Amino acid sequence: MDRYAVIGHPIAHSKSPQIHAAFARQTAQDMCYEAILAPLDGFAAAVRAFRAAGGRGMNVTVPFKLEAFALAERRTPRAQAAGAVNTLAFDAGGLLGDNTDGAGLVRDLTANHGCALRGRRVLLLGAGGAARGALLPLLAEGPAVLTIANRTVAKAESLAATFLPSTAETQLSACGFDGLAGQHFDLVINATAASLADQAPPLPPGLYAEEAFAYDMMYGRGDTPFIAAARADGAARLADGLGMLVEQAAESFALWRGLRPDSTAVLAALRRQLG
Ligand code: ATR
Repeated sequence: MDRYAVIGHPIAHSKSPQIHAAFARQTAQDMCYEAILAPLDGFAAAVRAFRAAGGRGMNVTVPFKLEAFALAERRTPRAQAAGAVNTLAFDAGGLLGDNTDGAGLVRDLTANHGCALRGRRVLLLGAGGAARGALLPLLAEGPAVLTIANRTVAKAESLAATFLPSTAETQLSACGFDGLAGQHFDLVINATAASLADQAPPLPPGLYAEEAFAYDMMYGRGDTPFIAAARADGAARLADGLGMLVEQAAESFALWRGLRPDSTAVLAALRRQLG
């Protein structure tokens, strides 16, 4: 039986074992998937031990995604662009590092929510790892406008500068939250960590165009402050990041097993469980 795992610190909360077990059942794959708690100073050793014990691949979560990037011997272009790795595959070529977070976000938006991005005006809030991981897959969809807004403006500017060469059809720019006043967007994605502190980024009013979509990468019970603020500001559609979680897992599964699971049923089951 092929072994896979998610590795992080903490890890007990992770839904990845449940998601991948469902994918494996659904596609009749002979595999198991476990959760590994690595000590904060023991990530590389834990990866090596899992590989030596016959492991085939791992998902990597907080706080090890940068260390996984450094540990990988080869990286996919999307991992390179993200500067972080959430998926490791152990194969004959060595340790391959991939990043499926951004692809998972785009797939959730387009396939699960029917939110096409081509030609649309998109606002990405945040300039940390979550925002960076989303940028290349978002740009690949060809939005007309992609604005990165962050509390620390310099971080948004340097992130935009990194991606400028890959923006032929997209007007890419950066600003602070104040700089958004008077602008309108079709899609606003919250990639800040504000929800973790039960806060919302301080956005000017009137941000949402007609039929606009507000998407929070966070998920859990009930609305985040960002989603509540988006509703009050007139966003027509609202979504949390549970679909992104399931879709990034599906992308990892596809990389490892060479086939794509049907994520719809798995997402519905998780949604029922969250209540
Ligand atoms: P992650 O990997 O989740 O992106 P990170 O790299 O620490 O985590 O980045 C956190 C992001 O959330 C940053 O964009 C941060 O803004 P700063 O660059 O100004 O620090 C943003 N952030 C965190 N708390 C926030 C808050 N209360 N309001 C607005 N933005 C916040």
